Amino acid sequence: MCGIYGYIQSKSQKKPLEQCLDGLKNLQYRGYDSAGVATICDGDLIAFKTVGKVDLLNSLIGSKKYELSMAIAHTRWATHGGLSTENAHPQIDYQNTLALVHNGIIENHIQLKQFLEKKDVTFLSQTDTEVVTNLISYFCNQMSIKEAALKAISMIEGSFAIVFIHKNSPDSIFAIARSCPLAIGICDHTSDVYISSDPSSFSSSSYHTTFIDSDEIAVISNSSLLIYDFNGKIKEKSGSHLVVKNKDITKDGFDHYMHKEIHDQSFLCREILQKRKHQDSFYFSELKKSEQKIKQTKHIDIIACGSSYNAGLIAKEFLERLTLFPISIHLASEYRYTFHLDKKDTTCIVISQSGETADTLAALRYKKETFLQTIALCNVESSTLTRECDLFIPLLVGKEISVCSTKAFTSQLLNLYLLGIHFSNVLGINHQKLISEINNIPFAIDDILSKENIIKEYAHKYSKYPFFLFTGRKDMYYTSIEAALKLKEISYIPAEAMPAGEMKHGPIALIDKNMATVAFIGNEEISSKTLSNLSEINARNGQILLFASEIPSHITKDVILINSNGSNTFAPIPYSIAGQLFSYHLAKNLDREIDFPRNLAKSVTVE
Ligand code: AGP
Repeated sequence: MCGIYGYIQSKSQKKPLEQCLDGLKNLQYRGYDSAGVATICDGDLIAFKTVGKVDLLNSLIGSKKYELSMAIAHTRWATHGGLSTENAHPQIDYQNTLALVHNGIIENHIQLKQFLEKKDVTFLSQTDTEVVTNLISYFCNQMSIKEAALKAISMIEGSFAIVFIHKNSPDSIFAIARSCPLAIGICDHTSDVYISSDPSSFSSSSYHTTFIDSDEIAVISNSSLLIYDFNGKIKEKSGSHLVVKNKDITKDGFDHYMHKEIHDQSFLCREILQKRKHQDSFYFSELKKSEQKIKQTKHIDIIACGSSYNAGLIAKEFLERLTLFPISIHLASEYRYTFHLDKKDTTCIVISQSGETADTLAALRYKKETFLQTIALCNVESSTLTRECDLFIPLLVGKEISVCSTKAFTSQLLNLYLLGIHFSNVLGINHQKLISEINNIPFAIDDILSKENIIKEYAHKYSKYPFFLFTGRKDMYYTSIEAALKLKEISYIPAEAMPAGEMKHGPIALIDKNMATVAFIGNEEISSKTLSNLSEINARNGQILLFASEIPSHITKDVILINSNGSNTFAPIPYSIAGQLFSYHLAKNLDREIDFPRNLAKSVTVE
């Protein structure tokens, strides 16, 4: 996955190493296993690398003043090779001539390594990145740096973004990409050049921005930006104008970003409802031009991963009832490898907080041409997903820092509900009863937030359990899937979600006094059935914590009352937020690293 950053000074007084470290901090959502920076100083390659987060690099670099014109940097999420300094980027080649940073996966790295080993090239790391570093270096002995890079990428299989520097061209940065984002921004005021996996990580200013398309190479200096195609021919690219406002996001007195982001959800939902309000209903002006296509639609496909997928799962039945379209929901990571009947007239909704999830992008690209229209439901306007979809609906929740998604997930779900209402408006289907119910969502969220202390007490009580089962029925089962994911991510405790009615078909064998079951009962029409299933767990000494709208005292004393403000339909939102608070306090009690859990990254940019 990883984040790539590069900087070339032109008219400003900024120091390249410091500038790269600042930029890297904005990219740590792409991984934080290790960090590194490299430059060329007086003809020598210099690199600083560390396991862990970017801040640790400061002490390595120390106070020595380097006279530099450029630097490249990297924050890593390990794919090949463990968490060590040797495996951190930048990787240096066997001839000590070039330093390279990489995002993506070189799928044929084993064959390429064998090819190089036969030429007596030696390796120090376990990374696929070192293979491409040495491959370019090897070809540099026979041709120009640009030609060597093009020759190397003609041999590489996989998707990647690569940035490197070479001793023989000490003022330039070389950048190549295939199906991975890599942006070059030239600052309007200083002409300084910024290179990044994500242009929103550039310093606050305005830029002329160009994305490197697949198999292009950019040769960048402070006086020129030349982009060549695969055959080495110069390409004219128009680029676009980008304004970056990187406000420092604070925790506002909370201990963790996750906690702050959970609390932000009440006012954010109010703002989203307000923005979409139109006459006595809700409306997306972004979809104005697509009304004809909505009328032509016969199916909706939803594609996403992780929590974004869970938002789709929860909303599916609501959307189906409201639009009367059959809806298929797909895990993006499975999509390309599964058989799909070609359905005519399908609107595809792709959900992603980051808009950079490699699985999601690959799934979109796989069938994009067959869809009637594609809609990105995404939090990042400048993301690859929003650029590649026909239409874009913003989540409007601001930057989400915690790896564990909370406010973005809630906005995805709320926006899917609102999209259902928008579609039914266009199709002339009545939904008036839902309008007042959906307007009550922020009040239901306020109610949950006011019960935080009770949730916290239960989270502490339950933090001794080694395994959790989350359960419910219908949309409460899907809500429990999301709640189990939250708990796994930040507490590292195994948690499985199971429809309550399925317990007796096998999983009930797991139940004993050491197993904690968390049950969500927010859909009154089926609550008696869920309670019967819970009785069966109770009878086998399982410990049960209930999130419910009333107290069924015969099942358990551990009940957290949820007031969904009269709405069963939208209950998944307050119940999910209750689940977020439960996981947060449980993980905090266990002293976990909540905002940046082990092994994870905010944006998963490898398949
Ligand atoms: C959620 O808490 C996760 N961190 C993860 O499942 C995430 O939702 C998934 O990786 C998809 O990311 P996206 O929304 O940015 O595409």
